[in-house]
Amino acid sequence: MRRKLVAGNWKMNGSLATNAALLEQVKADCANSACEVAVCVPAPYLAQCQALLAGSHVALGAQDVSMHAAGAYTGEVSAAMLLEFGCRYVIVGHSERRAYFGESDELTASKAARAVAAGLVPIVCVGETLEQREAGQTDAVIGAQIDAVLAGLPQGGLSGIVVAYEPVWAIGTGRTATPEMAQEVHAMLRQRMRAVDQKAVETVRILYGGSMKPDNAAELLAMPDIDGGLVGGAALKAADFFGIVCKS
Ligand code: G3P
Repeated sequence: MRRKLVAGNWKMNGSLATNAALLEQVKADCANSACEVAVCVPAPYLAQCQALLAGSHVALGAQDVSMHAAGAYTGEVSAAMLLEFGCRYVIVGHSERRAYFGESDELTASKAARAVAAGLVPIVCVGETLEQREAGQTDAVIGAQIDAVLAGLPQGGLSGIVVAYEPVWAIGTGRTATPEMAQEVHAMLRQRMRAVDQKAVETVRILYGGSMKPDNAAELLAMPDIDGGLVGGAALKAADFFGIVCKS
């Protein structure tokens, strides 16, 4: 009922030359994939990647969006601009934005609402730190993160979002949540969203992110509430990315 989605988050990596080589391979590899495939690229490369992906099955996404529609907001990129460059997805609330740029639950909620209103699909990231997990605060932290976003969505907006559970302690560390640990959080997230829209919640995809690799993807993706992956490091190598896509 939910088609899986594997989205690469390139973070602040890439160059004109490496993007072209990577996407040529990703396009060829993913031409017949069962799951949906997307790449979220740095903003300056959107035009290049839009052109490279034209006519392919790989969707384009960005890594951030402004909460504002337009105006005097130096450095910001609007949802309308992302749409002009062919974006379907935009990541909001990534833990790196939260940790290094002070982005709050409220700001993340505003960005998600802006994206949905503009016709973009926000990939809303939530996740706890190791300290929070060890203090037994996982559900409370993630609950507050998702509730803020849900409260800000326009009526009927739930069907227009993707959620990504990314335990902070698993990002770029090589340490992955076990399938059972991830499933527990994914089920909690779905339960939380059920209160907003009982019908739409069944179609909302909840991705797992955090050291997802070809050799751990299959068991994570086999869990009932894990509907795909948000892939960092492994998305920068075509073979590794496809090693995850082909298991979805
Ligand atoms: O958004 C994806 C991400 O944070 C996971 O990164 O390198 O652990 O796959 P990585």
